[in-house]
Amino acid sequence: MCLLVGQFGSEYIVSYKSILHQLSADNRIYVMTNSTLLEQLNWRYATKKMDATKAVPQEKLDIIIEAIRMAPTSSGTQPFKLIVVTNPEKLADIQKAAGDQAQITEGSHLLVFAAWDNYTTDRIDEVIDLNVEARGDLPMLHAYYDNLKNNYVPRAAEVNYAHAARQAYIALGIALVAAAEQQVDSTPMEGFDPNIVDDILDLKARGLRSVVLLPLGYRDPSADWLLPMGKVRKPLETIVTHVE
Ligand SMILES: Cc1cc2nc3c(=O)[nH]c(=O)nc-3n(C[C@H](O)[C@H](O)[C@H](O)COP(=O)(O)O)c2cc1C
Repeated sequence: MCLLVGQFGSEYIVSYKSILHQLSADNRIYVMTNSTLLEQLNWRYATKKMDATKAVPQEKLDIIIEAIRMAPTSSGTQPFKLIVVTNPEKLADIQKAAGDQAQITEGSHLLVFAAWDNYTTDRIDEVIDLNVEARGDLPMLHAYYDNLKNNYVPRAAEVNYAHAARQAYIALGIALVAAAEQQVDSTPMEGFDPNIVDDILDLKARGLRSVVLLPLGYRDPSADWLLPMGKVRKPLETIVTHVE
């Protein structure tokens, strides 16, 4: 979604189809468009060939990373870490572990979403501490997270990892949208051997397992075979059922 903000009285040239205007208490006009988000989602694609001479600027990277940090997660546990890889040797090794997918080294940054290998008392206690810091030492908060610990900690590590990985995927989705909003190209990737990537990045020692990769960079319009091809999506009516 695009949010244009400016002082009341400024002139805007807005060519979007659906526009919501709101004059807020701070005397600014907020112009929100739904179509812009859809335009961005149409612009993005799982880039197959990136231009290795172009790097994503730090300010755009920061926005994408901040969007990942802001991703909602179940019970707010944020059970994953983001590893930002720019080291050329590590990138080359990861590329080998990912069927030689070239975007990993052609992009300027590789985001690795790595989920907790398990839920532990210590990890959930850290979440409790953050909540207490932000919202105060509320009894309901302790009751909620004590219940969570009782449910999660005894479960099999594999079940907990799978739950944590699902939270990492939410962050991946937000990252894809944030990158598109920043006009940065990206390629979500599950096509890699997670055990090898875990070894390359020494993730096991940190109690982490790699879930999904996201190279960031800029498309190479003259060399990417996928760019001229249309989007392939199921018709709306085959996806959506209305229960009225
Ligand atoms: C979780 C996930 C894993 C994917 N893994 C790969 C991959 O390893 N390599 C690749 O080139 N594309 C990969 N893709 C890209 C999808 O094939 C692509 O997103 C899908 O076909 C829709 O096309 P679009 O993203 O270009 O709109 C992956 C996408 C997702 C969401």
